[in-house]
Amino acid sequence: MTSRASNPVGIFDSGIGGLTVAHEIKRQLPGEQIIYFGDTAHLPYGDKSAAAVQAYSIKIADLLLQRGCKVIVIACNTASAVSTELLKEYVASRARVINVIDPMVEKVSQNTKDGRIGVIGTKGTILSSVYRLKLKNKDSLLHVRELATPLLVPMIEEGFIHNRISGEIIETYLSNPVLKNISDLILGCTHYPLIKKDIENYYKGAVVVHDSSVETARYLAAYLNENNLCNSNPERPDDHFYVSDYTDDFERSANHFFGERVILEEYKLWE
Ligand code: DGL
Repeated sequence: MTSRASNPVGIFDSGIGGLTVAHEIKRQLPGEQIIYFGDTAHLPYGDKSAAAVQAYSIKIADLLLQRGCKVIVIACNTASAVSTELLKEYVASRARVINVIDPMVEKVSQNTKDGRIGVIGTKGTILSSVYRLKLKNKDSLLHVRELATPLLVPMIEEGFIHNRISGEIIETYLSNPVLKNISDLILGCTHYPLIKKDIENYYKGAVVVHDSSVETARYLAAYLNENNLCNSNPERPDDHFYVSDYTDDFERSANHFFGERVILEEYKLWE
């Protein structure tokens, strides 16, 4: 299939956290039609095996390809960590695959405050060592320290942000000796932009905190521009936000992550 500018941008995540990326893409590229798929039936991906996440990613990519997506954005860090190479091979020339890790690695390797970079993410992301490997590949002099912070996702999903409990959990993780003396911190998870301010407050300006949604949207915009694939047609079809399992709770969280009202549609991809 030849991609055309009028084709949609596909975005997927393990659930609704990827809406932080979708929202930034809409902000930077308001002319694009978005097809979002949140795999709420299999949430969380962060503690699944790489093989399971890869199998989910392929099936979701098939749906996005059927919908004619010109680009597939892997908004989930865990899926980006374990599925990118496989998806690129599988999708081949049918669409461009963009993840949330490469744009971040590109930016931080060139703009680090002092070359001592901490990364926090799910167990799956941290176990893959993908940030460390990619950052070192860009610049072997960078020091990269990674820490899995698995409590942060359920904490944020339960609405524990900007309060005493979230403050204590954040402090417990960030005071881990692994992250001692870092100059930059990469938020390697879809959910963490929601607590970016709390993390910045913890460091009191001593550490630069990087969040991938802005970088990913910029990377996507550059790709679309360079390939004449930008859609500026105001008549474009409506966006769709699919989830593989619907609950009212997901819809409430979705509004929170997207920062405005979003209507979820259930799509039973696994039946
Ligand atoms: N979307 C996942 C990520 O960015 C976090 C939630 C999950 O574990 O599924 O790694």
